[in-house]
Amino acid sequence: MKVSKAIFPVAGLGTRFLPATKAQPKEMLPIVDKPLIQYAVEEAYAAGVREMIFVTGRHKRPIEDHFDMTLELEVALEQAGKQELLEVVHGVKPDDMECIYVRQPQALGLGHAVLCAQRLVGNDPFAVLLADDLMVGSPPVLAQMAEQFKEWRASIIAVQEVPAEHTRRYGIVAGKPVDDRMVDVQRIVEKPAPEAAPSNLGVAGRYILTPGVFHEIANQPRGVGGEIQLTDGIAGLLRREKVFAYRYEGERYDCGSKEGFLQANVELALAHPQLGAGFRDYLKSLKL
Ligand code: UTP
Repeated sequence: MKVSKAIFPVAGLGTRFLPATKAQPKEMLPIVDKPLIQYAVEEAYAAGVREMIFVTGRHKRPIEDHFDMTLELEVALEQAGKQELLEVVHGVKPDDMECIYVRQPQALGLGHAVLCAQRLVGNDPFAVLLADDLMVGSPPVLAQMAEQFKEWRASIIAVQEVPAEHTRRYGIVAGKPVDDRMVDVQRIVEKPAPEAAPSNLGVAGRYILTPGVFHEIANQPRGVGGEIQLTDGIAGLLRREKVFAYRYEGERYDCGSKEGFLQANVELALAHPQLGAGFRDYLKSLKL
């Protein structure tokens, strides 16, 4: 029960980040010096995933280019003797990592995007990572979940406690606690109003799912916002299989929102080995 494939749905419209996302994918927005999608791919790689499946749409070419070879750049860096930078460039796609692209012709929702990768995933368990949720954890959040998956052998959704007034931003799960981090999920609802929310456990953008979920997504009517929702597919799966929610250890930054993106940039810059000290001095000098 090893998770070796991951789906990265990157075909959304990114409307919350306009105008930056008018002609470029939000997943290519950089946090300090690395695009969001690279953080997510590195997290999957650290969890043992080697097959990265990107569900792309229009304007998403830069993502394919980012994980492709850049021969002129590499030759130029080599000739200039810039070995460290050359390693940075090579590190974007390790040799044992495979990148596969499939297109979502229309942004019909996250569930629909996941369904677009069904044929590539086949009958294996798989991870889903939403790159605009930047997760900082040690061990990385997906690696924590992969450990749990080995033990429980069932779908696992990353969750965190969210303020009651924010339930409309999340899928919300409710269930029976199994231990201090795991919850045996009984219900999952997409973006409920606070008064209708069954708990305050909000879904973060990391999932390990069994392939049975594809059938469930395909059989759901359109959900909240007229979109084909992954949450509704998981709700269907719940009727047939166990699904667990895992309270991850770490920080999440909602980089699909401008506030979350700015917070991630400040905090990761402060933690950066080369930039951190100077950036801290700069922030102090602002005397806010
Ligand atoms: P979001 O709802 O956060 O992304 O979907 P969005 O629709 O791009 O952004 P806003 O709300 O308009 O600002 C979560 C993830 O699912 C992907 C997005 O690319 C994002 O990574 N997604 C969403 C798809 O791939 N296809 C879709 O049809 C919808």
